[in-house]
Amino acid sequence: MKGIILAGGAGSRLYPLTLVASKQLQPVYDKPMIYYPLTTLIEGGIRDICIISTPHDLPRFRQLLGDGSRFGLKFDYREQAKPEGIAQAFLIAENFIGHDNVTLILGDNIFYGGDTFQRAFAEFKSGATVFGYHVQDPERYGVVEFDANGKAVSIEEKPLLPKSNYAVPGLYIYDNEIISIVKNLKPSARGELEITAVNVEYLRRGTLRVQRLARGFAWLDAGTSSSLHEASAYVQTIEKRAGIKIGCPEEAAFQSGFVALTALEKIVGEMPNCEYREYLAKEVVAEAKRLKK
Ligand code: G1P
Repeated sequence: MKGIILAGGAGSRLYPLTLVASKQLQPVYDKPMIYYPLTTLIEGGIRDICIISTPHDLPRFRQLLGDGSRFGLKFDYREQAKPEGIAQAFLIAENFIGHDNVTLILGDNIFYGGDTFQRAFAEFKSGATVFGYHVQDPERYGVVEFDANGKAVSIEEKPLLPKSNYAVPGLYIYDNEIISIVKNLKPSARGELEITAVNVEYLRRGTLRVQRLARGFAWLDAGTSSSLHEASAYVQTIEKRAGIKIGCPEEAAFQSGFVALTALEKIVGEMPNCEYREYLAKEVVAEAKRLKK
């Protein structure tokens, strides 16, 4: 399974924060926003990741994340010259995807709790798997309607009159058909290749699986000033209470077996003195050594 993180867009809803740093580089409590979706992919065992952003912002992502080797990953950076829709990512990344299946995650989506995605990746064979999450304001999202048997019957992008409260979060798993599907898509009225149109096509073919995310699962999007603040508050609350970190790619890479303990120790040793380093040193490195004894 290949992974794509789409971190494009003008971030206009966060202006003036986004005048110098793009949305997905903004802090969500104690780390850059993109750390969260990156961690979600690592936890899912995905090692080949294509990071897509604007020509202006791409160098910053490169600076932040490097070639991926410190996480035991391989990063491929690609430009989205114009914001022509989420589904355009599959055209930009076509030769990166090759003949594989692919998961796309949006750079401003934060997920926390449970192993739903890990299972979905492991069980995925063909078609498409997307998710449904109960929200108060479905009109802001792609909205999925279920029948009495829990089967998805329709998906609409930002409908004025949503047919349910289930929004489709920004994590999508597709088989290799995705490439030809996107090639045949027509841009929507707002001039974009819509991810919802892709999901509608899989639904039409009868190969779309929509899995409802459990109530205990958290999905936050951080695209507006309020939701960014709320996401930070949520992360801080959980981290303080539990003494763990959400969205820590070094930790996830170690737990997934992508980085050995000695390599992690070296990386941590090179970090400046800060709370992030202290966490990794105490809760991850020292704890792993203690368990080894
Ligand atoms: C996009 C998708 C929408 C999806 C949402 C998830 O919306 O178009 O279907 O529910 O991401 O974050 P946008 O972020 O472009 O408003």
